[in-house]
Amino acid sequence: MKFVKELKRTGYCGKVNSSLVGQKVVLMGWVNVRRDHGSLVFIDLRDREGIVQVVLDPNKAETSAAKNLRSEFVLAVEGIVRARPSGMKNAKIATGEVEIEATRCEVLNESAVPPFQVDDENVNEMLRLKYRYLDLRSPRLTHHLVTRHNVAQLVRRVLSENGFLEVETPILYKSTPEGARDYLVPSRVNPGTFYALPQSPQTLKQLLMISGYDRYFQIARCFRDEDLRADRQPEFSQIDMEMSFIDQEDIMELNEKLLRTIWKEIKGVEVGPIPRMTFQEAMDRYGNDKPDRRFGMEIQELKETVTGSGFKVFDDVLSRGGIVRGLAVPKGGSFTRGQFDKITDLAKRAGAKGLVWIKSEADGALTSPVSKFFSPEKLGEIFKATGAQPGDCALVVADDFDIACAALSTLRNHFGKELNLIDHSKYNFLWVVDFPLLEYSPDQKRWVARHHPFTSPKDEFFDDLMTNNEAGYGKILAKAYDLVCNGYEIGGGSIRIYRNEIQQAMFRLLGMSDEETKHKFGFFLEALRYGTPPHGGIAWGLDRLVMLLCETEAIREVIAFPKTAKASDLMSDCPSEVDRDQLAEVGVRLSTLAEKALEDSKKNS
Ligand code: AMO
Ligand code: AMP
Repeated sequence: MKFVKELKRTGYCGKVNSSLVGQKVVLMGWVNVRRDHGSLVFIDLRDREGIVQVVLDPNKAETSAAKNLRSEFVLAVEGIVRARPSGMKNAKIATGEVEIEATRCEVLNESAVPPFQVDDENVNEMLRLKYRYLDLRSPRLTHHLVTRHNVAQLVRRVLSENGFLEVETPILYKSTPEGARDYLVPSRVNPGTFYALPQSPQTLKQLLMISGYDRYFQIARCFRDEDLRADRQPEFSQIDMEMSFIDQEDIMELNEKLLRTIWKEIKGVEVGPIPRMTFQEAMDRYGNDKPDRRFGMEIQELKETVTGSGFKVFDDVLSRGGIVRGLAVPKGGSFTRGQFDKITDLAKRAGAKGLVWIKSEADGALTSPVSKFFSPEKLGEIFKATGAQPGDCALVVADDFDIACAALSTLRNHFGKELNLIDHSKYNFLWVVDFPLLEYSPDQKRWVARHHPFTSPKDEFFDDLMTNNEAGYGKILAKAYDLVCNGYEIGGGSIRIYRNEIQQAMFRLLGMSDEETKHKFGFFLEALRYGTPPHGGIAWGLDRLVMLLCETEAIREVIAFPKTAKASDLMSDCPSEVDRDQLAEVGVRLSTLAEKALEDSKKNS
């Protein structure tokens, strides 16, 4: 190690270039690949900035370490940068014009044989997650984390320039409802009581507005115990902000500015004005409040066309207030029955009770499993009304609004991908506005807040909120807005309720007793009494934003140490069992059910 003490690293492997030819450099990094040519050994030396080729003579004392090098050994190399002979240049890597002729080489540390080659893209993800620290050496993940860093710095810069203050809020806190389950932390000092990890800093940032910090932001960690999907993690980060004395327009304008700067600086892409669409229009046209508008295939209303046609399934749905809508799949006329069965399954998994398909054969004739219920003319009308052309197929769903929309949107997104209708070079941004304030939860048999209970209704709906006219609740629109890109919700926010009595009415409407309200939100309602300014805000999903910028579809790809779909960390093997003593200390005992589950999992492992 004498050598390291004598030498200072002069730069990164990945940054060596032609301007350094003839100069002496000292590099430190990991052996990516070693190629032994007998009299000469070539290694690709890697650090976080990239790789550079090093040429070593194993027969010279100073570079004899080259004899015993293996993948992932850590080296210090001193050498002279030289241009590669013509014909030996490698255009695939940034340092491909040059190589290092080593004058000294020392192994700083050896490595066990790695379970996979770091730059191999075809390794099972479970294995990569177990050895995440090795996967993080890959150029792919390095690029993602560097992008994430750049975005975070940019956000800090832009928001600071616009007068925002970064304030940290607690992680050990009280339950903040954002629609998911809480992660709970038992208190040792106050036996029987629990903290909840914040689902977002929502109440805290509103309290900061009450305190007078009129422009707040934070890159905030949020925790939500919910079913995971490709774009969800149990802990994730938000670019969270809140402003006082503003309206919806101000927030949208500032956020567009932020978005434009990010896309310009990270992707070199100019983003134009972002169109807006009401929630209702998004649902009607795409069946979805975060539509991917990089392709068409819009949903069509078929009510008029099918009314009175005598097909019981459609008539029944329409008579109970449901909808009959469909869409056309280009070239779907060639699908087989087997394919239609799979498509029907897809619609059913999205909640639909069935799916009507009509396909146009090569000769223009229409076939459908429901053709016996319709005259050929009617079948033709329905087919056309979906927008289908000869050679296409029409897919029709009849159901309650939400279910039919969900099924049709699932089909639309499926075929958008399957038929390659999506131009992946595009970023399609959209503001979705005018969300309903409330939605009825059949499971809970009560109204729930669509965004969160602090969201203000639009001015014209205050009376509906304050009166107990339940019939009108579904129609109340909120001052809420979502920022959508390519089918992802990257951000969502709202103008808040800032008057105590309206907030109380809201909690009441959501079925909370006065006692429950006091227990959960007493402190917040109390705070609202002390001069609360009008305010509102938004939070972006930082992880989702970085996913879009890095063009990956898995949120795990942009988080240094992510969790699996079962919310576990394969590397450290958590969540894991804790000592019974430790549990006793925080006043917690496992249920018989939990004990049994533990035993079973031990048996199976
Ligand atoms: P919301 O719940 O819409 O709003 O969250 C804001 C944004 O956070 C991202 N997001 C997630 N990202 C990864 N994994 C998850 N499990 C996850 N859940 C949400 C999404 C989403 O748009 N307090 C409000 C904001 C406000 O009203 O100001 C809130 O949290 O990109
Ligand atoms: P059934 O009367 O249930 O045998 O259904 C007749 C046809 O209508 C089948 O092709 C079903 O897949 C379809 N179907 C049933 N329910 C629906 C629905 N809600 N929406 C669209 N098609 C449906």
